[in-house]
Amino acid sequence: MGDTTGKVSLGGKDHEYKVLSGTVGPDVVDIRKFYGDTGAFTYDPGFTSTASCASTITYIDGDEGVLLHRGYPIDQLAEQSSFMEVAYLLLNGELPSKGELDEFVHTITRHTMVHEQLATFYRGFRRDAHPMAIMCGVVGALSAFYHDSTDIDDPQQRTIASHRLIAKMPTIAAMAFKYALGQPFVFPKNELSYTGNFLRMTFSVPAEEYEVDPLIEAAMDKIFILHADHEQNASTSTVRLAGSSGANPFACIAAGIACLWGPAHGGANEAALNMLREIGTPDKIPEYIARAKNKDDPFRLMGFGHRVYKNYDPRAKVMQKTANEVLDKLGVTDPVFDVARELEQIALNDPYFVDKKLYPNVDFYSGIILSAIGFPTTMFTVLFALARTVGWVAQWNEMITDPDQKIGRPRQLYRGATKRDYVPVAKR
Ligand code: CMC
Repeated sequence: MGDTTGKVSLGGKDHEYKVLSGTVGPDVVDIRKFYGDTGAFTYDPGFTSTASCASTITYIDGDEGVLLHRGYPIDQLAEQSSFMEVAYLLLNGELPSKGELDEFVHTITRHTMVHEQLATFYRGFRRDAHPMAIMCGVVGALSAFYHDSTDIDDPQQRTIASHRLIAKMPTIAAMAFKYALGQPFVFPKNELSYTGNFLRMTFSVPAEEYEVDPLIEAAMDKIFILHADHEQNASTSTVRLAGSSGANPFACIAAGIACLWGPAHGGANEAALNMLREIGTPDKIPEYIARAKNKDDPFRLMGFGHRVYKNYDPRAKVMQKTANEVLDKLGVTDPVFDVARELEQIALNDPYFVDKKLYPNVDFYSGIILSAIGFPTTMFTVLFALARTVGWVAQWNEMITDPDQKIGRPRQLYRGATKRDYVPVAKR
């Protein structure tokens, strides 16, 4: 790659920096020596102009609405691939042969059960705990149950931990759901697919036979694919930052889950459906559009806007189509879908949203499908976490083996008090 150089003038002096070119996408100025050269830091809250790492996993062109995993467009993967195949691709860089895929699925399937003591761990939570609170705790606790795969310097342990995380996440998520309902945990059944198994662990009860509906299984698998990775988003960056100190992978993924929970990130799917239900009927839409545009009102249209996509979110297109298919097949006539469709049209034609390039994101439609399938809103972000675990694990592995990897340690612009002397409390 033909790297070039660029000059920065600061304090009357010119400094030269390498400009690195990726295979595609904007060039990146290598400012690692900037502080040493100039004595100044760069300022970039929210990392809007900063590449925190080099990666070969996922590429996004936000202006063109492009999302590629290892070069493959997301719509092709969602329509033609499976979540397990995408997981293999993200982890290994290439699509698997039939034999490699079978072996990968077999390995993941062999790790689906959780330590029996982990079931006891759930009982410490209140039954009305948010399942994301349970996920943060239980996934973090995995490091206490699987000591034999926490040595990050051992490639084999890293691989086992990666497989364990991907394999156990559906079991852990389904257990969080069952715990809230007061129903018994359902053991995995390894003859089923990754996604079919998850649906069965979530929705079956021991008193009845359960058959996985192939349409729901396919839709769910697609939703998992659409959420599998998204380059250096907030939760992935959190996983990388936590991992940069040498923390074990289970702890790092728990950190990612905590970050994902926020309504500006993975929590948006729950917030979006709650918002659509609150709007209730299409005639109320103008009121909410006005609120979203009002600078003095903190309300935002949930499921709209994205830090990177300034054209459209390619995942939202697939999600909208899947939502139509699922609702048609299930015969669900949810008025919330009419609200969503109309809200989308109004917002897409409103100068405020057009000028700011705010388009529906992946979370705008996902909640509608998940609700039709039977998930309560509190589970939506859990499903996002389940799928994103694949991306987190792939990115964590890439970071650990990156020769440029260092502990993440941003600098700051200090605007607090300068040095002053302590005054005893009696004299204040
Ligand atoms: N409704 C109304 N106004 C909005 C919205 C929205 N959803 N999103 C952004 N804006 C406005 C914002 O007020 C700002 O206006 P101004 O320039 O006049 O101050 C402008 O658009 C730029 O917004 P920003 O907050 O500076 O942009 P950001 O890149 O920091 O935020 C975002 C991106 C996704 C956090 C934001 O668009 C948002 O809060 N959206 C709603 C939450 C949501 O749907 N999140 C899911 C993201 S996709 C799933 C995922 O990857 O996690």
